[in-house]
Amino acid sequence: MGGKILRLGVLISGRGTNLQSIIDHCEQKKIPAEVVVVISDKKVAYGLERAKKHGIEALFIDPKAFPGKESFEKAMGDELEKRNVDLICLAGFMRILSPYFVNRFRGRIINIHPALLPSFPGLHGQGQAVNHGVKISGCTVHFVDEGVDSGPIIIQAAVPVFDDDDEDTLAARILKCEHKIYPMAIKLIAEGRIKVEGRKVIIKDAAKKEWAVFNPPLEID
Ligand code: GRF
Repeated sequence: MGGKILRLGVLISGRGTNLQSIIDHCEQKKIPAEVVVVISDKKVAYGLERAKKHGIEALFIDPKAFPGKESFEKAMGDELEKRNVDLICLAGFMRILSPYFVNRFRGRIINIHPALLPSFPGLHGQGQAVNHGVKISGCTVHFVDEGVDSGPIIIQAAVPVFDDDDEDTLAARILKCEHKIYPMAIKLIAEGRIKVEGRKVIIKDAAKKEWAVFNPPLEID
């Protein structure tokens, strides 16, 4: 996939702050990619407005308009293919994709999750981390497979969890990192620097400094 402008399709269900970060990085030419379509499964999703503001095609595809999950996903897949999307980025898309869709776009779907996988998959990753009492959490960009947040891990960032954190304060700290590592993962893929070997994602020519950036030092007086 290296050497050209990667065509992205972003799937959302809500506010779309990760989408915004991806759009900004593309527009500022920080990553060799372009968002060509945004698809939401919710009619009211602020992410759709964000897309329109940037002149990006924004589609609402209503799952209720289809007899089943697969036909809904087929419609989504057809729209993505029509626009020659190279990479599908899930950014707060609140549905589990079926094996049909994963197979159709195998190796070309990525997701961001607000926890350090394999800990705390599924909903409320940040709340699960607070309730479990972990001292460090973070976020993960990974390839999508048939499981829930279970595919090979591309990049992660860590943040501290403080005693007085609740789900919201931790979520806000993690979100800042999400906005950095999601574009970073897309850049690595666009540059053709990603190789998947079983569960492991190998990043070619990785310089150590590239990773330090995403683990901000703990602020301890
Ligand atoms: C993020 O926390 C992401 O990790 C999770 O859903 C949330 C989406 O937020 N998958 P936004 O719509 O990108 O603001």
